[in-house]
Amino acid sequence: MTIRAVIFDLDGVLTSTDRFHTEAWQATCENWGIPFSVSSSDKLRGVSRKESALIILREAGLSLSEEEFERFSDEKNRLFVTLLDSMGEGNVLPGVKALLRELKPRYRLAVASSSRNAVKILKRTGLMPFFEVIVDGTMIRCSKPDPEVFQKAADALGIPYDECLVVEDSIAGVSAAFKLGCPVAGVGSASVASGVTYSLAETKELGDIL
Ligand code: G6P
Ligand code: MG
Repeated sequence: MTIRAVIFDLDGVLTSTDRFHTEAWQATCENWGIPFSVSSSDKLRGVSRKESALIILREAGLSLSEEEFERFSDEKNRLFVTLLDSMGEGNVLPGVKALLRELKPRYRLAVASSSRNAVKILKRTGLMPFFEVIVDGTMIRCSKPDPEVFQKAADALGIPYDECLVVEDSIAGVSAAFKLGCPVAGVGSASVASGVTYSLAETKELGDIL
């Protein structure tokens, strides 16, 4: 297998902002009196804000009017963005900066995230300069498990899909990468996903492989 590019997910792979998504949903659900279990928050990894809200409501057996649904999702995003305001370089996951420094001269590097806040996160954590291509939630029509976000990143790099290693902490993202024929490094809860090329407890372990 030849790997010429590495396409990273963002939340939970490069930065600890996955926690903020969970915290923001939990607080929003508390406000709305909607049950939310942190243990099922893995299902929200990698899926869009709208899809996350739908999953939460489905699990609670509830439905909201269109207008309420908008307010519910907007409230979560406002809380999430407030949490981002306290964020800095300390939110880069352990060993990630050293890993990116090591990989940059040898591989083409991209970020592919479902988040519409991805650029803000990359700027605040100082990770922006490592990446040649960034595809985020504002640039896609379908979020993971649809492969669109990875396809756009690979196409922008001009590298064949089977030579792009995708690094993902979500099951939705792993499925998306498989659909495209990319090799996958599953991180954390996605390390046990069946068929992953590499299983990593933490992103930094990629340095031992590449
Ligand atoms: C990432 C996270 C998801 C989140 C999605 C949308 O993929 O893993 O949990 O729902 O981004 O984020 P946004 O910032 O656009 O609400
Ligand atoms: Mg993620």
